[in-house]
Parts: sequence; structure tokens; C-alpha cells
Amino acid sequence: MTGRLRVVAPAKINWTLEVLRIRPDGYHELRSVLQTIELHDVVTLTDAPDISVEVAGPEAGELPGAPPDSNLAYRAATALLRRTGLRRGAHIAIDKRIPVAAGLGGGSSDAAAVLRGLNRLWDVGAAPVILAEIAAEVGSDPPFFAFGGTAVVSGRGELVEPLPDAVAPPILLATPPQDERGEKTASMFRALTPESYSDGDTTIGVRETVEAGRLLADENMNNVFERLTATMQPQTELAMEALRTQGQTPHLAGAGPSFFLLLRDEQLAPALAARVRELGFEPRLTRTMPRSRAVRTRKL
Ligand code: C5P
Repeated sequence: MTGRLRVVAPAKINWTLEVLRIRPDGYHELRSVLQTIELHDVVTLTDAPDISVEVAGPEAGELPGAPPDSNLAYRAATALLRRTGLRRGAHIAIDKRIPVAAGLGGGSSDAAAVLRGLNRLWDVGAAPVILAEIAAEVGSDPPFFAFGGTAVVSGRGELVEPLPDAVAPPILLATPPQDERGEKTASMFRALTPESYSDGDTTIGVRETVEAGRLLADENMNNVFERLTATMQPQTELAMEALRTQGQTPHLAGAGPSFFLLLRDEQLAPALAARVRELGFEPRLTRTMPRSRAVRTRKL
């Protein structure tokens, strides 16, 4: 019988994203609290002779069959084969709903979903910490998605320490149109200067808030890349500034160019979504996704 699995691949936001220093290997030493959110791709895995990837869905992009981040999922599958020595294959179908290259970790999440799914489909039995190790071969963000929920991430992104699920308000995401996004993570890191480095204190603060089960708030957030938006992502800066003048506190999502608002009052969501749209961004109302949902796989 051919095995078939469906895996949820959630997007993420960073509650904090701090850079401590540049490392001898050229990567940046991070302290970050990451959070999965309800916005998600759906990855369907089917036993097959070889590895193949197919991407469809509302955010699949313009290049049929060759969307920008399809290769992360492919690379995750081949990394698992290498690690286990198995001779298997799988068809990977990705229903893309997370905007690509938006700072929301979609491609990284798909890669980790492939690892979690194939781990079950092929009866590998690897613990999340092993999946995170394999995920680190694919990139700096995928290891987090081996755990999902809320987690502190350090190193270049490969050291993941799961926390209890954060308590947080609903989230209004704002994403610019696809033609204004690009492959920008490396250039954002390159543009950082030592004045932007911090000591990891806001990450410790969020960790304490989360562990105490207290509600997260704007004051807890910190993202090093917000110092660069004015020069590197002017459109994002303009929209965030416009919202600030209205008394809102927007936060950059990852390295941008998406950003998010924490909604203290959910009744304001329609008006704020309309304002975000006016500013040329796509609004999406979402909320945090707890770990139990973020790592679920379902046999079909
Ligand atoms: O590891 P990954 O391929 O996801 O990272 C993309 C780029 O972002 C790297 O090539 C590197 O330039 C930068 N990066 C960094 N420090 C990190 C993570 C990523 O400088 N901790």
C-alpha cells in the first residue's frame, strides 16, 4: 500500500531577533524567540520511486514548477536520505499559502514539514532534535520548525530550545506585493553594523514572560532589522511609520519586508486591515499556532 501523509507547515514571526556579533564563519550569532502562526502551507507526501516537488496554491508564484523556495523541501528530503542511508522516494506536493520571500519562513517551514512527514512516512523514528540537526543542513531557519510553537533560537539558528506556548494577542500581518519582495536575507545581514548588535537581554525578557504565562505585548518585541528598513525596505518603513502616527506599534517580521501588529482589541481588526490595504500591503488576520498543532502529521 502506498503511504500518504498531510503535514501542516506554519509561518513564523520573531518576537525578538537580536544579533550578538559576527562569527568567524561569517554567520551572525543570534538570540531570537520564534513563534509559529496559524497562516500555513499544506504539504502532502506520497511514497514514490524518487523525490519530486510540486508547488501549487495562491502563493505559488508565477514560475510553474519552479517556485523560488521549492528547492528547500527537495534538499530536506535528500538530506534525510543521506543521514538515514535509506533508498526511498516521495512526491512532495506543497499547497502554498504563505507569501514567499516575505520574512515569514514559509520555505524553511516546508523543508521542516518534509522532514517531520518523511520521518513518519518512512518510519525513521528520529526525535525533533535530530530532525533539527538535519534541517540545519538546509538553512538557518528550518531547525526551529522541527519543534514549532514558541522557542528560543541561538547560534546561527540551529540551536533550538522549545518554550511553553506563548500567550499573545491576535496578529495582523501586512505583506507587500510579490514584485516588491526579493531574496534579501543575506543582504540584510550584510548591512548590519556593530552598533546594531545587542546582548540578548530582550530575548531573555520574552523568555521569562512566556515561561510565566504572561501576555506578550509591544514592549517585549525587538528586531535588529528594524534599524535597516528605512534604507533597505523604504516601502515597509513608510507603511510602518504611517501606522505609528496612528498610535500603532508595527513590528518587522523576520528580516522583512512583512510586518505585524499585535491587536490589543480584535474589534479594530477590520479598520486596521483596511488601513494596511490602503498603504499597499496585503492584510491577514492570524494568531499564534501552538506546538501541538505545529508539528501534527496526518495519515491520509
Ligand atoms: O543559513 P541560511 O542559508 O538560511 O542563511 C542565508 C544567509 O543569511 C546566509 O548566507 C548568511 O549570509 C545570512 N545569515 C547570517 N547569520 C545567520 C543566519 C543567516 O549572516 N545567523
